[in-house]
Amino acid sequence: MENQDLNTILEENRTFPPSQEFSQKAHISSLEQYQTMYKESTENPEKFWSQVAEELHWFKKWDKVVNSENAPFFKWFENGKTNISYNCLDRHLDSATKNKAAIIWEGEPGEERVLTYQGLAREVQRFSNSLKKLGIKKGDRIAIYLPMIPELAISVLACARIGAIHSVIFAGFSADSIRDRVLDCEANLVITADGGWRRGKMLALKNIVDQALEECPCVKDVLVVRRSEHHNFPHSFQEGRDHWYHDLSQDVSDKCPAEEMDSEDMLFLLYTSGTTGKPKGIIHTTGGYMVYTYLTSKYVFDLKPTDIYWCTADIGWVTGHSYIVYGPLANGATCVMYEGTPNWPDEGRFWNIVQRHQVSIFYTAPTAIRAFMKWGDKWPEKYDLSSLRLLGTVGEPINPEAWIWYNKVIGQERCPIVDTWWQTETGGMMITPLPGCTVTKPGSASLPFFGVDADVLTENKEPTNAGLLAIKKPWPGMLRGIYGDPERYKNTYWSKWPEYYFPGDGAKRDKDGYFWILGRVDDVVNVSGHRIGTAELESVFVEHSSVAESAVVGIKHEIKGQGLIAFVSLKRGIEGTKDLEQELTKWVANKIGKFVVPERIVFSADLPKTRSGKIMRRLLRDIAEGSTLGSVTTLADPSVLDDLKKKYEDED
Ligand code: WTA
Repeated sequence: MENQDLNTILEENRTFPPSQEFSQKAHISSLEQYQTMYKESTENPEKFWSQVAEELHWFKKWDKVVNSENAPFFKWFENGKTNISYNCLDRHLDSATKNKAAIIWEGEPGEERVLTYQGLAREVQRFSNSLKKLGIKKGDRIAIYLPMIPELAISVLACARIGAIHSVIFAGFSADSIRDRVLDCEANLVITADGGWRRGKMLALKNIVDQALEECPCVKDVLVVRRSEHHNFPHSFQEGRDHWYHDLSQDVSDKCPAEEMDSEDMLFLLYTSGTTGKPKGIIHTTGGYMVYTYLTSKYVFDLKPTDIYWCTADIGWVTGHSYIVYGPLANGATCVMYEGTPNWPDEGRFWNIVQRHQVSIFYTAPTAIRAFMKWGDKWPEKYDLSSLRLLGTVGEPINPEAWIWYNKVIGQERCPIVDTWWQTETGGMMITPLPGCTVTKPGSASLPFFGVDADVLTENKEPTNAGLLAIKKPWPGMLRGIYGDPERYKNTYWSKWPEYYFPGDGAKRDKDGYFWILGRVDDVVNVSGHRIGTAELESVFVEHSSVAESAVVGIKHEIKGQGLIAFVSLKRGIEGTKDLEQELTKWVANKIGKFVVPERIVFSADLPKTRSGKIMRRLLRDIAEGSTLGSVTTLADPSVLDDLKKKYEDED
């Protein structure tokens, strides 16, 4: 954790209570109400969660709310039967919500598609029947590699409807990353599109999938949605394996009953970075995840029937799963979905969308806010943002300066800000303000959500004001495991302290009990809100024939929050030229994706190591950040460091 950040945060003492007008209309309208409900939720979780679950549809009621007998393999709503797609769609079809917009979609080039709940239900069922036509059945794993088009939400809901397990792969990942994810869960179908728009260019997604599938014998079929009509994509179409969605779905029915799923049946896998070279397939199951995303959406976004809600994330990340698709739709909300980048065709695009669709709730990432700040106030000032009533952030710590700007320029000092801390693993928001009752402080995620028993502990499990974030007690939205690796699940999350979930974040707790999340304490770097394990990048570097060894560290970055610096030592006789640097940059982009390319690659003869051969990343971080070098007494050869420091500064 950065001392500088800690100091900025420690000095932050501005407070922002919600307006009386906001509080009066909110679901949770006073701190007393929050405290009473919080107490009930932690003292009697069975009763609390049971009442919430009853607001949703179950084919058969559960026998037990939470079963902890085989901890940390917890079970929620044991023996209950339900379907999340049914709860997001069918549940709304016998009320006025039926004719309400579920998704207002805007493509990057500017076209619009509005799907009402009834229309979305029809599309999802057609998609489900198309999957069935390909022989897909309950329990099959389906990889989805789509741009942000309605079919992404539709295909996710279609899988859930028939009990197929979706694994969405963010469309910025490379062919190799798709291959690894497909192979790990042995997916038998990939859903993709011929292309997708990004910053005025069409990305040839199907061609990337083709490349990945050269090494994936488990994949029997590829379903291709058409997006790039006037482009020369895809470059090839394999008879028998590849199917156009518009052809396949032509004669299928738009009625497909929802499969009765057990609460603990797997709903989806989502791969995320950890501290080793191999991404983890995080498992989420049906009942608990559904109840948790439903309730967090309702209270944290204070959802009302008239809201137009926009989460700017990509469905390829957990934020899109929980807060574009499942949570808001389970609440019958209207969601805006946008395909492209915020600065296309200009830096006013997001505010144009807010104005035109009258967005009332806006949820984005701190990295985006910092980019908006840099682009200047003139962009939001061109538009009427008076429809906004609530703002949110997620994905990384927000610096108080960005928070204040967001509040002033976007929220016009009228909108509460919910800074929501959570993870792929937690399924939903864990520490977050509730907008009608929490007095917010810039940079603090504030207080735990209902049912979340959070603490700050030392390594030795002692309570402290600044240490490691810890969660006691299970919660319904929690991950149920890592696909194919139960041991890794236990070791990563439940072994630091018995009975506590360890999220891997540092945190501070102030005198009011507010949590201030300080960032990762492990070798995971958060670049523009995307989690990247440094070990994952290091293993990609050493796969290159010129590289002997590498160490990757995260440093502070003005816009991205954190950026990556790679220190690379080359094999004997190989020179660290500019060409090689470019080649390695491309190598990383091809192996993982462009969004993880390091800011700089520094070649060096050797890396600083302890006498036992462990690379001292701490010292490399000091060099990269230009700070005073920490203790070097354990180094095997301290002269390595001087060479490296000089090299780093010379090339700057
Ligand atoms: C970080 C994203 C500070 C944190 C939903 C966590 C945050 C990781 C916040 C999870 C926040 C997320 N304040 N840090 N409000 N939200 N983080 O799995 O380090 O992509 O462990 O889930 O992002 O990233 P993931």
